[in-house]
Amino acid sequence: MNQAEAAHSLLLELRRLRSEGIRDVYVEEESLLSLEKTLQENFPVPSSKAAAAIGANSPSPSLVESPKTEKVKSGEPPGAVIRAFAENDLSEIASPPRFVLPDGSKEEQWNWLREKVEACPTCLSELNPNGKVVFGNGSLDSDLFLCGEAPGAEEEQQGLPFVGPAGDLLTKILEAMGLSRDSVYIGNILNWRPRHGQAYGNRPPTEQEMNFCLPYLRAQIEIVSPKVVVALGKTATDGLLGHDPNRRLGDCRGKWSELDGIPLMVTYHPSYLLHNPSKASKRKVWEDMLLVMEEMDMSISEKQRGFFG
Ligand code: URA
Repeated sequence: MNQAEAAHSLLLELRRLRSEGIRDVYVEEESLLSLEKTLQENFPVPSSKAAAAIGANSPSPSLVESPKTEKVKSGEPPGAVIRAFAENDLSEIASPPRFVLPDGSKEEQWNWLREKVEACPTCLSELNPNGKVVFGNGSLDSDLFLCGEAPGAEEEQQGLPFVGPAGDLLTKILEAMGLSRDSVYIGNILNWRPRHGQAYGNRPPTEQEMNFCLPYLRAQIEIVSPKVVVALGKTATDGLLGHDPNRRLGDCRGKWSELDGIPLMVTYHPSYLLHNPSKASKRKVWEDMLLVMEEMDMSISEKQRGFFG
């Protein structure tokens, strides 16, 4: 990966974190110094006049005018150049699929739906080379339905949700609740890993992509018929409750919403905890999970109540 690609991956990751409602990112002093050094070596600081013209917070012009950003139009602000690159990468998404689940047992309905999603032309056409469609999995009789954002690199390789680092952390959270991973159901808003033309990083799904996959997700919720749905992160919340530009995850986490009559809890995505591993962040997610356990009529020990306290 060259420096321009590394810088673009960093931007993508920061965008993804922002889409999860993350406003603060802790960066070690050492990392800051090394980032500063790399930027100085590869993207010379513009003259003070040019810097004033682009604004103190804008990315440096050399950074955004990398050879990959071919659609640069002279006079366009730097931010627009990066957006143009990302948008060029996106294809038009078809209208959301319309279907009715066939009669039958939960297993029969789930198998029918899985086959439908795995053969869905839009899902297949959006895949990265060697990537797989990722359908939800877990117990069809679970009281708990967890919904994430979109598959990452490891998920698209294995064709399974939450099998990377965020998945490992999710498994630990479930175990702290006294639940095995196999005893719950885990799905995603999107059935494919959003393409972004870079070797590293993840792009948050667009509203159009989320709307396309939503009927598949809602059908999984209908089959499992859980007592509680948990939306993991901002994208899952927007996907399930509808896009709201004013929604801030910090404001709506830990509060109950409703999805087709099912209580829905919003909490941070496990990758938020991977980036913000403070006791305070863990406690927030844990308090949300305690509410979920109460709603599911699970017994909660004193020890459990005190975790991360
Ligand atoms: N993050 C998600 O939101 N879903 C996955 O399946 C993996 C990581």
